[in-house]
Formats: sequence, structure tokens, C-alpha cells
Amino acid sequence: MPTVHVFDHPLIRHKLTILRDKRTGHKEFRELTEELAMLMAFEATRAHPVREISVETPLAATTGWTIAGQEIAVIPILRAGLAMESGITRLIPTARVGHIGIYRDHDTLEPVSYFTKLPPDVAEREAMILDPMLATGGSTVAAIDILKRAGCRTIRVMAIISAPEGVARVHGAHPDVDIYTAAVDSHLTPHGYIVPGLGDAGDRLFGTK
Ligand code: PRP
Ligand code: URA
Repeated sequence: MPTVHVFDHPLIRHKLTILRDKRTGHKEFRELTEELAMLMAFEATRAHPVREISVETPLAATTGWTIAGQEIAVIPILRAGLAMESGITRLIPTARVGHIGIYRDHDTLEPVSYFTKLPPDVAEREAMILDPMLATGGSTVAAIDILKRAGCRTIRVMAIISAPEGVARVHGAHPDVDIYTAAVDSHLTPHGYIVPGLGDAGDRLFGTK
């Protein structure tokens, strides 16, 4: 069964509230997006396998743990997903980064894909798609399609805010893909904006409006 994991950590709820606030400026918006991505990745990797290893401290030999299992590829969807990437690669420095460029057609709201550059071994890695906004779900479904065509079998979606319509579309098209999010909001406007949401993530990140 597909799953939506909604994070309720107090720090995530606190930072998300500041992110939503229309008075929050570009610099703080970028910093919060990065911090939220890091906190979400921390929660999402809770069940990641570890392997026992030996380590020598200055005083004695002991046993410790190292991360094991599948390596990770983080896949930001351009543009807004870029702001989440640094937060996650700081936590997981061995992650490779692939970029997928997609924008929504202004009239149809359907995704238009314009760029893909993936790590050569992406099929062997667990792919973590990054996009702050899961609205109609069209962009995320298109990104999952691209990754599956590239051979990826383990895919997770990290979206800071989701709409119920987007969650349903992703799970309808790709029931094997889990979604990790800080909030599932109320609904979409006729123009495809999430309510209450935070507005246009790309414009708020990069100051393009
Ligand atoms: C925004 C957002 C997502 C997409 C979500 O991107 O960053 O990628 O919309 O909407 P959907 O779920 O309905 O597909 P946008 O199209 O504004 O492109 P941009 O980031 O380049 O501005
Ligand atoms: N993209 C955004 O940036 N914001 C929304 O509310 C929906 C799609």
C-alpha cells in the first residue's frame, strides 16, 4: 500500500509556519527550505540499514555503526527543488545529485519536461525526489516516470507541502512510491495553487516576481 508520511516534529511545524508567512523574505525562505529538507531527510532515513564496524577511540577499541544498504541519489525538480538539495547532501555527503527540469504549462497545468541529467548509476541507487510543492502532482508523476525509465526501482518523494489532489495522483500512477511531507493542505485553487500553501515556491525562493 502506498504511504504518506506526515512529519509532526515540533521544529518542522515551527519552521513550516514561518515559511508560509507572506512576510518572510527570500533569504530566510531559502534558509528555511534548506533546513526543512534536512530535518525531513533525518526523519525519512530513520529506518535506513546500518552495519556494525570496529573503531578505535584514543582510549580503546570499540564497535560502532556505519550506514549500509542502497546508496542515495537526490533528484531536485528545477527550479524550487534546488533549495532542498543542499540540506540533504550536507546530511548524506555520499549522495549523488540528478537534476530534472519541469515546469507547469500556465494554461493546462500539465508538466513540461525540459532537462534531465542523472548520475550514471542512478538505477542502483534509492532515488529521493525533491520538490517543495506537490500540487496537482503532474510534475512529480513526470519525474517518477523519467526515473523509472532510467531503471530506478526504489523511489521516494520529499515534498514540504502537499495537496490531497497531488497525493492521489501520485499514488494512482505510482502506488509503489511513498510520499514524505510536512503537511497535507486543504485543496487547490482553480489555478492549481495549494491552499493555504505558501504561494509560488520558485518565485519566493529566487525573487522572480
Ligand atoms: C512548481 C513547483 C512544482 C510544481 C508543482 O513549479 O515547484 O515543481 O509547480 O505543481 P504540480 O504538482 O501541479 O505539478 P513551477 O511549475 O512553478 O516551475 P518553477 O519551479 O520552474 O517556477
Ligand atoms: N507550485 C507552487 O509553487 N505553489 C503552489 O501552490 C502550487 C504549485
